[in-house]
Amino acid sequence: MIEQVAQIIKNVSRGAVLTGAGISAESGVPTFRGKEGLWGKFRPEELATMDAFMANPKMVWEWYNWRRELMSKVKPNAGHYALRDLAEYFDNFTLITQNVDNLHFEAGSPDIIELHGNIQRNKCAKCEKPFEDESVEILPDAIPACDSCGGSIRPDVVWFGEMLPSGAIERAFFEAEHSEIFFSIGTSALVHPAASLPMVAKQSGATLVEINPEVTELSGMADFRFACGAGEILPQLVELLKEDRTNG
Ligand code: APR
Repeated sequence: MIEQVAQIIKNVSRGAVLTGAGISAESGVPTFRGKEGLWGKFRPEELATMDAFMANPKMVWEWYNWRRELMSKVKPNAGHYALRDLAEYFDNFTLITQNVDNLHFEAGSPDIIELHGNIQRNKCAKCEKPFEDESVEILPDAIPACDSCGGSIRPDVVWFGEMLPSGAIERAFFEAEHSEIFFSIGTSALVHPAASLPMVAKQSGATLVEINPEVTELSGMADFRFACGAGEILPQLVELLKEDRTNG
């Protein structure tokens, strides 16, 4: 099956991939759903919404600082690096991620669309001024304030009920509609609009490849499904392409 996917890649020029928390699982970053998922320990509406932030900013900041601390210790895994290398076998390859852990950037992928923001960045909750270089710590009794408008500084991630970064989702749908092969990797495909991207790609004529140890909403419509870890199968795919290129 992996050989068939490699053969398809050799004959197309445009590819795209949607990644979710599962691509970072092998780096030690907890996913959201599933056995050990974050949403099994915390309630999203208590931590990942503007209402939660306005009601209890200190708790929300503590949770994100805990996640930042965790993510400062993790590194990209073989799946991230394989996706970086995979881009070389396409004229156009766009990596669309729901993850906020910055690991695709650290791995060096060339063309990344972050649909849900990036936990390493902050912004003002009121005027959206970016605070990217400060390591914003919780002050003993107050939440850091924006030096332009006095609003509260918050993590630059998309919370439930919020709009995605302008331009990001539009570009993601464009790439899905124009891809000839689309990979859905490490996502439960439950949270829209991101979850619609693989279906849009498939309906637009792309070959749909899913990589996920668990069955998802997409599994029934995937042309190829690898029920294993991304860090296991993606390096095999890149290795096949490399060998083929070496053998001319
Ligand atoms: N390789 C591939 N997939 C994996 C691996 C792995 N090594 N380990 C786990 N998975 C799969 C799980 O089976 C699961 O289907 O990754 C998926 C992770 O799903 P979720 O935890 O739901 O994460 P995600 O799909 O990224 O969630 C989407 O929901 O809470 C919001 O903003 C949050 O971006 C997130 C969005």
